[in-house]
Amino acid sequence: MPFKAVVFDAYGTLYDVQSVAAVTEQAFPGHGDIITQLWRIKQLEYTWLRSLMQRYEDFAVVTHDSLVYTLRVLGLRTDAATLDRIIAKYLDLDPYPDARAALAAMKDRRLAILSNGSPAMLDGLAKASGFDTLLDAVISVDARKIFKPSPQAYALIEETLGLAPSEVLFVSSNPWDVCGAKAFGLNVAWIERVSPEAMAAACLETDLVAPLTLFKALRTQMDELGFAPDYRIAALSELPEIVTTHEP
Ligand code: LAC
Repeated sequence: MPFKAVVFDAYGTLYDVQSVAAVTEQAFPGHGDIITQLWRIKQLEYTWLRSLMQRYEDFAVVTHDSLVYTLRVLGLRTDAATLDRIIAKYLDLDPYPDARAALAAMKDRRLAILSNGSPAMLDGLAKASGFDTLLDAVISVDARKIFKPSPQAYALIEETLGLAPSEVLFVSSNPWDVCGAKAFGLNVAWIERVSPEAMAAACLETDLVAPLTLFKALRTQMDELGFAPDYRIAALSELPEIVTTHEP
């Protein structure tokens, strides 16, 4: 039985979180890269910490607080208007160049997002990118008030689409999300945006590891959690063939 639905992670999978770098660099010249990387690292960390602490605040709050943390530890003074300007980019992140074509090529399946983003953030993104016309559902973990990789978050796919995990292909570039979705029982495709060879080469390049390289080392390589994706792909354009030829 072929997959009935393809469900995507949002940040880092359909939308490029690194696209905030132009805005952070413009606001704090010379600090764009370090702000961008620390911000994303802390943003994810806060989702996991808040879930464990059972002190959920939505992704808009977490995104704001992790930026405040980042600017504070870097010793950068800011004001509310600058913070708002930087955060606004999260509602208008650049989609990956192959995202639209991949979604359009799989229109015969049900297509959805399952993301840690708040409903308002995800709706903003889907509208800004025009993907809202291609997606059947935009599912936010906010409905359960716990972040991925909690099983309760992945359970929202079945609750919303009415499809069993075996009927769904979940797609993410985030290794922790891939492991979480596999542990839950979904079929999973991992977009390996940074190959292990490119990763190793970047680490060897200079004595000083650049913030982006550190981010890649922490967040783009497969984790040692005992789970592996069903499919490893290098680009979203490889998905339509997997979706049509899959025979479990
Ligand atoms: C998502 C993130 C956090 O859930 O990548 O979209």
